[in-house]
Amino acid sequence: MQLGLIGLGTMGANLARNAARNGADVFVFNRTSEKTDAFIKDYAKEGSLEAVYSLAGLCKTLKSPRVIILMVKAGDAVNACISEVLPHLSKGDILIDGGNSHYRHTERRQEELEQKGIHLLGMGISGGEVGALEGPSMMPGGDKSAYEKIEPLFIKMAADDGSASLTTGGAGGKCFTYVGPGGSGHYVKMVHNGIEYGIMQLIAEAYHVLKVEGGLSNEDLGKIFAEWSASDDLRSFLMEITAKVFKKKESGKFVLDQIKDAAGQKGTGKWTTDAAMEYGVAVPTITAAVDARIMSSTKEFRVMRSGIAPVSVEEDSLPKEVLPDIVRSALELSIINTYAQGMQMLSVANAKEDWQMQTSEVARIWRGGCIIRSAILEHYQKAFEGDKAASEHLRERCSGDRQLEWRHVVALGAERGIPLPAMSASLSYYDSYRSAWLPQNLVQAQRDFFGAHGYEKLDEEGNFHTNWNL
Ligand code: 6PG
Repeated sequence: MQLGLIGLGTMGANLARNAARNGADVFVFNRTSEKTDAFIKDYAKEGSLEAVYSLAGLCKTLKSPRVIILMVKAGDAVNACISEVLPHLSKGDILIDGGNSHYRHTERRQEELEQKGIHLLGMGISGGEVGALEGPSMMPGGDKSAYEKIEPLFIKMAADDGSASLTTGGAGGKCFTYVGPGGSGHYVKMVHNGIEYGIMQLIAEAYHVLKVEGGLSNEDLGKIFAEWSASDDLRSFLMEITAKVFKKKESGKFVLDQIKDAAGQKGTGKWTTDAAMEYGVAVPTITAAVDARIMSSTKEFRVMRSGIAPVSVEEDSLPKEVLPDIVRSALELSIINTYAQGMQMLSVANAKEDWQMQTSEVARIWRGGCIIRSAILEHYQKAFEGDKAASEHLRERCSGDRQLEWRHVVALGAERGIPLPAMSASLSYYDSYRSAWLPQNLVQAQRDFFGAHGYEKLDEEGNFHTNWNL
């Protein structure tokens, strides 16, 4: 199969190599020709990789129906790229937007392009630069017939989903599937990134407690995280890289200790919380993670106020030796509840947009290649396939001593003035959804008091209003 690829940044270049290694004839274009030349010089021997120096040239070289993947920055660059390539395309051609575009932008572009007979697939790609080369998780959405044309190549390029190791056996699949029509592919990638924000923040909070309260060194933390990341319950890509981060030294110093404690963000986490609000889904851990990045970025302000000591509980409420074990539980249970929030976002959007998406398939293609790949996803996949034992497993993990330890850690943070926004958000999420009664009857009364908004009753149908001042 022929593939045109526009944009030889790190992800684009590695994806082009991945496609060539999997037997595609790849024609690459980059705005700066020096980059194209350097790429060809370095990698042409790996497979059928050829340079083209104009978009007209790219479209002339490719046979119809052309398949061109855009690996350019989300936003204006995608718009510019589409309008430049459009005059050279013909009916039936397929564009794939492989960046982190907002799913609503993808839908708008799809509508415009469909009028001209061009299909646009919005395809989330996760896995960073190594994943792009060795096998990413890819989440394509859009026209089904266009998907079918690209499937034979992209399925080869994708990561294994790890299902061969399912306890029930199974041949093992690839982290590539048809997500659904419209912007569903980019929506799924956005939710993936929201979960990514949540888990990264939770790991950071575990680090905070263990470093500040437990007095653990980077060496200790490296060992603990390596051990956790090898366990059945916490095994994940983010845990693995965290263990390595703790160990990394440059010029005799730990790199981590030299990094300014102010997190950046490109916006996909915020988009996730925006969309969650739009669909009426609660994602408190993800929102807390976005907030935590915002608060961290105000370094000067925080330093200025750092003289304000907390009025905290003085004595150790927990012996230091138990900290790693209880933090482990808090981390695992908070992560389980973060995936739950993301899965809920998939289900609700799926129903409202009528995407006919199989949420279990999304959990499956997240099991390999991507940033949020983890052992827990096997249980989510099975639970969404209807396997009661898997749902029970997730419920059971959040019970007993582990749940108590989760509560201890959140309480410890509050007692000692250690901010744990994502862990406490996860716990409140869990507690809210297991509460038959919540105090929002009072909120309803207040709303009716000052705004005559009315309220429903428990024992009678209808909308009621009370004259509260009489
Ligand atoms: C991935 C990542 C990747 C990137 C995000 C997050 O799946 O490979 O999610 O897309 O890390 O853009 O970036 P920020 O943390 O800068 O928002």
